[in-house]
Order: sequence, then structure tokens, then C-alpha cells
Amino acid sequence: MIIPVILSGGSGTRLWPLSRALFPKQFLSLIGEKTMLQDTVLRLASVASHGPVYCVCNESHRFLVAEQLHEINAEIGEIILEPAGRNTAPAAAAAALIISRKHPGALMLVLPADHVILDASAFVSAVSSGLAAAEAGALVTFGIVPASAETGYGYIRASGTEGGAKTTYPVLEFVEKPDQETASRYLESGEYFWNSGIFLFKAESYLQELEAQAPAILEACGEAVGKAVEDFDFLRLDAEAFQSSPSNSIDYAVMEKTAHAVLVPLDAGWRDIGAWSALWDVHDRDEAGNVKKGDVILHDVRNSYIHATSRLVAAVGLEDHIIVETSDAVLVATKDRVQDVQLLVERLNRKE
Ligand code: GDD
Ligand code: MG
Repeated sequence: MIIPVILSGGSGTRLWPLSRALFPKQFLSLIGEKTMLQDTVLRLASVASHGPVYCVCNESHRFLVAEQLHEINAEIGEIILEPAGRNTAPAAAAAALIISRKHPGALMLVLPADHVILDASAFVSAVSSGLAAAEAGALVTFGIVPASAETGYGYIRASGTEGGAKTTYPVLEFVEKPDQETASRYLESGEYFWNSGIFLFKAESYLQELEAQAPAILEACGEAVGKAVEDFDFLRLDAEAFQSSPSNSIDYAVMEKTAHAVLVPLDAGWRDIGAWSALWDVHDRDEAGNVKKGDVILHDVRNSYIHATSRLVAAVGLEDHIIVETSDAVLVATKDRVQDVQLLVERLNRKE
């Protein structure tokens, strides 16, 4: 059985002003009709023999998660609540501890809640390509052919990928978030994949890796799960124990160190919706290269993303811009500076 484990802890600050601390991007319908969290579940429909959905999220988002999962009639396994984020390694550890107890031997399909995958059937077949390796104890990662020297991703070099005839390849090297120079070198070499952040492994395999590579995380999460309290639809981790866990990602804590990783190439129109420019990227554009959402009127504007939610937005003579209007805040930025929106949000938070 495959248990989907959705990680929904991010705050999505770079998609301000639509994404807010109490209502982050994974709960918004930024691409289609459904929210990114809902799309994450819906694209699992044809994954063979998958079990109930687990979701790990922050305490403050519990009702959003429950409501959005119920709305699409998802079969819910457990909604696991973190008192505060400790990054992805502890979040996945808590899920793995619970799954290994409730469904011994089951595989976990770890899914970030904020990705777009345009071709769901290519995704589903990549998952089935990874099954045998995961059943045999490997940590399966799904690799994307890189399009740029992006420094916000993990890079994976695997053995024998040049010919491309197989579906799984032993991982030789996993480097999380390299610096710009290294990322450029990796891109030019043509030997590296981006890590998609989606993983498939037995809960027990992940726990064994944690024991070897990050025992303090395993210990804290073991206690947090042991003392967890069921509360209606939710499983609330013990706050003190969970907060005593080191904060680290799966990538740094486990994937960079393990000798048991296997790569499955994923060619499914994958995108991490990290910043506004990514939304311009995934949407269909008009003949001037613009994405218009809501009540928008443009004259001589090119290659821009203009999103109005509560009133008319008009623009003249712009190129490569992002404008996002909400009832209480408006963002105007050039497309190449959208990463810096995070800095604005940090400043706003300091003001409060
Ligand atoms: N429950 C929970 N708790 N979820 C979390 C937490 C947490 O503390 N921190 C992050 N998440 C969720 C985010 O909401 C997101 O869905 C996913 O875990 C990945 O976290 P990010 O913070 O977005 O990671 P990243 O984008 O910097 O890097 C990861 O993804 C890249 C691809 O998008 C890494 O896996 C990279 O190697 C990878 O290339
Ligand atoms: Mg991300």
C-alpha cells in the first residue's frame, strides 16, 4: 500500500500579498479551480492501491486543511499537527512513526503541497516505476531535468542516466541548494537532475536512515508521537517534545547522506510555485505574453502577470512586471526581482 503524506507547512511568503501567514499559497486556487493542496490529492486518483491521505501541517492551518480535504471527499488517514515547524525531516518522521505502527510495511509517498504537475499521468507512471526499489528498501527521489542554474533546489547525479533506457538509477551524489557557481557547473555538465522534493520509501526505511543520520530528530519525534493527543479530526503532536527536535530538511538530514537513494526521472510539467514569476510561467499567456486574472485592462504591456482580486487594475507601457492587487495591499515588482518579496514581508512582520 502507498500512503500519501502531504507536507503543508510552508508559509509561502514570496507569494504575498495573496499568500498570508494564516492563509498560505497551498490553500489558494492560483492555477485552476481547486487549491494546490486539493490538486496534490486529486492527482493521486490513478495511483494504484493508495491508502488514506496523511497531511502534516501547522496547528493554525488545521481547519483549512480539514475543510479542503473534506470538500474533495478525500479519504483522510490522519491530519498531524505541528506546534511549530521544524522543517521537513521531523514532519516526515512524525508521519513515518505513525504509519509504521498503523500500516506496517507500507510505502510513504511524500508530497509537497505547493507544486504544480501538469501531466498527472506521467507523474503516476513515475511513481509506479519507483515501487519495486522502494519496496526493496531504497529511498526513491524523482528527478527533473534542470532548466536553469536555480540555487533553491537540490541537485542529484545518478549512475547510468546518459542512455536513459532504465526507469531507476542509483544516486551517486545529492547536493542540496548549491551556490550559484556550483549550480551553473552542474547545469552545464548535463549530468544532474533537480530534486523534485517528492519521495517514495517505506516508513521503516526512512526511520532507519534517521536513526543512522539524525538520531536526535528520531528521538524527539518518537516522544512527540508517543505523547500525541487525538483531538476530533486531528492528531496533535506533543509540543514540548516536537519543539525539542533539531530543525532540518529531509534533503540535508537524510538525502545528502544516505547510501540507499535511487532516482526516477520525472517529466511531467513539474514546477515549484515558489514566487510570482512561476505563476506567469505555468499559465497560458495572451498574444502579448501577459497573464491577466480578474478585472484587468492593459495597453502596451508585455510579458507580465497582472492579478486583480477586488477592483479594476489598469496598466500602460510595462514589460516583465508583476502586479498583484488585494483589498488591503498591492504588490508591484519586476519579474526578475520577485524573490525579494520575501524581504518585504520580513519587514512588514517586524513592524507588527
Ligand atoms: N509540515 C511541514 N512542516 N511541512 C513543511 C515544513 C514544516 O516544518 N517546512 C516545509 N514544509 C513543506 C512545504 O510546505 C513544502 O510543501 C515542502 O515541505 C518543501 O518545503 P520547502 O521549504 O518548499 O522546500 P524547498 O523548496 O526549499 O526545497 C525542497 O524542494 C525543492 C523542490 O521544490 C527540497 O526538497 C529541494 O531539494 C527541492 O529541489
Ligand atoms: Mg518549495
